[in-house]
Amino acid sequence: MKNSLATSHGKIILIGEHSVVYGKPAIAIPLKSVSLDVYIEQSDKNHIQCKFFEGELCESSEDLIGIKTLIEKFFEEFNIEKNIKIIIESDIPNERGMGSSAASSVGVARALFNYFDIKHTEEDILEWANISEKIIHGNPSGIDINVIMNNKSVYFIRDKKIETFPINLDAYLVIGDTGIKGKTKETVSDVKTLLDKDTKYMGYIENLSILSDEAKKYIENKELENLGNTMNKAHENLQKLEVSSRSLDEMVNIANQNKALGAKLTGGGRGGCMIALCSTLEIANNIKEKFEEIGKEVWISKI
Ligand code: MEV
Repeated sequence: MKNSLATSHGKIILIGEHSVVYGKPAIAIPLKSVSLDVYIEQSDKNHIQCKFFEGELCESSEDLIGIKTLIEKFFEEFNIEKNIKIIIESDIPNERGMGSSAASSVGVARALFNYFDIKHTEEDILEWANISEKIIHGNPSGIDINVIMNNKSVYFIRDKKIETFPINLDAYLVIGDTGIKGKTKETVSDVKTLLDKDTKYMGYIENLSILSDEAKKYIENKELENLGNTMNKAHENLQKLEVSSRSLDEMVNIANQNKALGAKLTGGGRGGCMIALCSTLEIANNIKEKFEEIGKEVWISKI
């Protein structure tokens, strides 16, 4: 039986996506109900096998360009001449803001170090995972990789601060998938274009920054209603930054009409997932049903 060389979980950004790219604080939590394992075995040629590709690494699809570059650079750096087959088994949905690309980058980097028995630190994993993330996302803040590596909730400020802190709200987070691929690289780049065009957009980034800090305070004081309101306000600011979409807005509205304390998109936006904060499992299950009635995939996570 093959042994996994690295396991990573998914993640959810609770608040602060997009503004985190500009050095503002954000809060992210690990999503332990979805995960990814990486296996490596000897092979005649370098192969990769995952959900959307199986074959020689040199012929892999465009989706795998980040991972391919990471593996090639790793082989070059450590003068590796052996051929391997990398198998990525994942139930983290792709391109849904749930951290599938960061989990693959971290998982593959860790598995390579482990398989070739090369001494490394967590900093090394971060650096190698970043090679792939930069290609996939263009200008990643690093929050996705950091929450996945820490496997704990993080309060994160780019290049400055990573504070892990417990979230124990006795509440539930509904994670609803629009079923549409998120477009992180595109939305991050479009937000930059808006910021270059008109200073009013920096106002929304500043608002998100304040909301992230308020959210941290509400989490620490277990002020659920205030946290929910803060999430709604964050969604409004993300709408102003033009990263929401009709289906994200529709799902946020359904959640709020069905007793969520607050709801917002999570991750890059224009697709991917939204989250709704619920005070009871009953409310969360009811919202789940409503989403399933319109054909959406849903997870519930206790927070
Ligand atoms: C993506 O999960 C979160 C964004 O803020 C991008 C980033 O932080 O790199 C949209």
